[in-house]
Amino acid sequence: MIRLDNVSKQVGHQILFIEASAALQKGEKIGLVGPNGAGKTTLFRMISGRETPDEGQVSLDRGISIGYFSQDVGEMSGRSAVAEVMDGAGPVSVVAAELRELEAAMADPDKADEMDDIIARYGEVQHQFEELDGYALDGRAREALAGLGFSQEMMDGDVGKLSGGWKMRVALARILLMRPDVMLLDEPSNHLDLESLIWLEQFLKGYEGALLMTSHDREFTNRIINKVVEIDAGQLTTYSGNYESTNSSARSPTSSSRLSSSGSRQCSPRRSSSSSASRRAPRTQPRCRAGSRNSTRSSGSSRRGDAKRWRSNSSRRRARARTSSA
Ligand SMILES: Nc1ncnc2c1ncn2[C@@H]1O[C@H](COP(=O)(O)OP(=O)(O)OP(=O)(O)O)[C@@H](O)[C@H]1O
Ligand SMILES: [Mg+2]
Repeated sequence: MIRLDNVSKQVGHQILFIEASAALQKGEKIGLVGPNGAGKTTLFRMISGRETPDEGQVSLDRGISIGYFSQDVGEMSGRSAVAEVMDGAGPVSVVAAELRELEAAMADPDKADEMDDIIARYGEVQHQFEELDGYALDGRAREALAGLGFSQEMMDGDVGKLSGGWKMRVALARILLMRPDVMLLDEPSNHLDLESLIWLEQFLKGYEGALLMTSHDREFTNRIINKVVEIDAGQLTTYSGNYESTNSSARSPTSSSRLSSSGSRQCSPRRSSSSSASRRAPRTQPRCRAGSRNSTRSSGSSRRGDAKRWRSNSSRRRARARTSSA
């Protein structure tokens, strides 16, 4: 559904990707991992079209829908949280908004003279709303908000009065309601309490679309994903399985690396273990390095320096991971 082919990207003086390749297939649930500042958000932004790669290509299957949740929720005000969530679901939200306006008008004594017209229009709009399955959508929006910890009052109150953390939950509920073909979730677990986190985990487990997600909550991620893509040394390495299954596959020395059809590196992972109480993002120890296509590097000195720095950072992380698993 989504392919990154030999993508290179520099932001400011920092080279984030060097001819990196990966693919997201239908129904896959992928955990995107990498240290702070590795380029996870940048990768989401490139896939969602908010940024373009300097070189290489990000290609999406024709007609697929993408829902992107980021930490940057933007402005929200002037309507209820439910209306804001339903807005993500497309035309039905416009109809829902008119329905609410008409309901308010019907209760307004100043509009008694116009009541016949209002009631006639209400009938039409209500019919449209039913045709678009609006009542079910309203119920689903409320279900998502309740799952993420909203009370009825908060759902129906002005979204603009909510704190940043609650607005973040509204933005997340909006993507969940949208049920796109691909969800891109950048730190969805931030700002969530344990109960909401459990609800979100169940939702994502049952979600039939594809998922690319990054989260500092290792255990949460681990229970949802079936693949890992690691950003390391400006490269993307793909591992099958989640962190737990990668632990068991570490016992199988026959696992080998190969290049996928997209040119991405497919590795059998060796996962560094750490305390089960740890809720940090995983650290990975790839067993394989780039295949032929990806092993090409720019000869530019700044790139070389950057890649070298990346590699040394990576070694440090692995050393730390080894220490923590000892
Ligand atoms: N618009 C920008 N201008 C300059 N530098 C930027 C810009 N956007 C991102 N960066 C830098 O690019 C690097 C990668 O940023 P990005 O947000 O993609 O990393 P990340 O992996 O998501 O990090 P985190 O784990 O902290 O969320 C960081 O060093 C960041 O400071
Ligand atoms: Mg980020």
